[in-house]
Amino acid sequence: MRNKFLEPMFLGATFDDFLFRPQHGLVNTRQEIKLAMPLTRNITIEVPIVGANMDTVTREKMMKTLALEGCFGFIDRNCSIQEQADRVQFVKRQHSYVIETPFVLSRRHSIAQAKQVMKSNGISGLLVEGVFKSEILVGILTHRDILAAGDDNSAMIDEYMTHLPELIMAQPEISMNEAEKLMLEKRIEKLPLVSKPGRKILGLITLRDLRMAKQKPYSTKDKKGRLMAGATIGARGDYMERAEALVAIGTDCILIDIAHADSDIIGKAVHDFRSKFQNIDLVCGNVATREGARFLADLGVDAIKVGVGPGRGCRTRLETGAGVPQLQAIRETFLEVGDSVPIIADGGIRNDKDVALAIFCGASTVMLGSMLSGTDESPGEIVEDPATRKKVKMYRGMTSPEAVYDGPDSHGDSDGRFNAPAEGQAVKVDYVGSVVDIVKRVKGHLQSAVSYAGEQTLINAHEKLSTKPSKYLIKLSDASKEESFER
Ligand code: XMP
Repeated sequence: MRNKFLEPMFLGATFDDFLFRPQHGLVNTRQEIKLAMPLTRNITIEVPIVGANMDTVTREKMMKTLALEGCFGFIDRNCSIQEQADRVQFVKRQHSYVIETPFVLSRRHSIAQAKQVMKSNGISGLLVEGVFKSEILVGILTHRDILAAGDDNSAMIDEYMTHLPELIMAQPEISMNEAEKLMLEKRIEKLPLVSKPGRKILGLITLRDLRMAKQKPYSTKDKKGRLMAGATIGARGDYMERAEALVAIGTDCILIDIAHADSDIIGKAVHDFRSKFQNIDLVCGNVATREGARFLADLGVDAIKVGVGPGRGCRTRLETGAGVPQLQAIRETFLEVGDSVPIIADGGIRNDKDVALAIFCGASTVMLGSMLSGTDESPGEIVEDPATRKKVKMYRGMTSPEAVYDGPDSHGDSDGRFNAPAEGQAVKVDYVGSVVDIVKRVKGHLQSAVSYAGEQTLINAHEKLSTKPSKYLIKLSDASKEESFER
């Protein structure tokens, strides 16, 4: 049975307070160490990194890349419902085995219209139907046809598309291997799926997606092979309307996110959500105490987001005096709910070693804000800081004046944020290139940490160290902190 009382070593503790004792190593190469962990009660991810639901961190580009790399992300809610739904839809359309609702235009649409649809949706081909909205396939228009059309923008698609006699099609039952073989044999990159008889459009397979699925078998995908996407709602105002729109377009996991989730308002929001949607994973946060974790676990949520005030863009502790040092918060909440509800450790991760410590002490995954925010995939421009000549991006707390001002409810104030004084701030972060490299680095260091912990998988290291941390963790003195971290 778990010790329900917080071990004294965790009182007031956070990441830099500990090292762990190296254990006898078992693996030949660290790359073979598996890092899969539960994100929620029903979703497991291969790399336990979660993109923070912030408008300078996780939007469609970040979400897509994180999912491809085996991680996860939650798209923020600081936008209109339509914008957020469009972002999720963009992700769900990327790299699926079968695109179930491909873009279609009729043969009488113009080349200019085709160019516009392709450009605005970032796609390189369109299926063509005979009569507008008939959904009966008569051709395909690819980027090569568009090149051939040149400036002939007013021409009809019909003049440049590949017509029926040369069109290679298949039925939806085709296996992925057969589809790949057929596409290679016929030297095509896109294979429309149609009914037989009738040629009703039922989907599209692209060679690029098949290749990607083979190259990255660890990507975070749903049962249909589509990248998974998470999205955030609040607990007041338009939250149920937002939830409806997000669930309708296939969001895989909803996060109800407010600053203080151990509250009546969350009780009502979870109840309302669950009375309408039973079959989608629900994450809730943030809490930082055992009572908060119990409250959310009893509401039946599928994962608990833990952290009050540790984030780089946070001013909650400074402005209100409320908060719990992050490693204590992780430990307390874990001791309360154990592994029955996965914990997402949110905020305060500054170094790669913090990821290992968070997971060894009880978290299942970590949510990263600032560490992902200086990348190509985060929203916002790269600018040169005139003082230092360094390339930087802006990272801002979601209750910073800047984020609140840009939000959808700055005028309608549907969840009351605009009138409350700020508890977040904007900071400059160094531009660090692609998030793929950040994930690779964190992943490598986490594998090394598991090896030092004497285990072959992260889940085993989590199990071993979280069961008896006092056996493995060393609380540092000021001198040993200096010896360990100051360079
Ligand atoms: P890191 O340290 O990874 O933290 O940058 C990311 C987390 O910070 C939280 N967050 C806020 N907390 N005021 C706060 O007190 C804010 O304005 C704010 N914005 C983000 C959030 O939990 C995020 O995941």
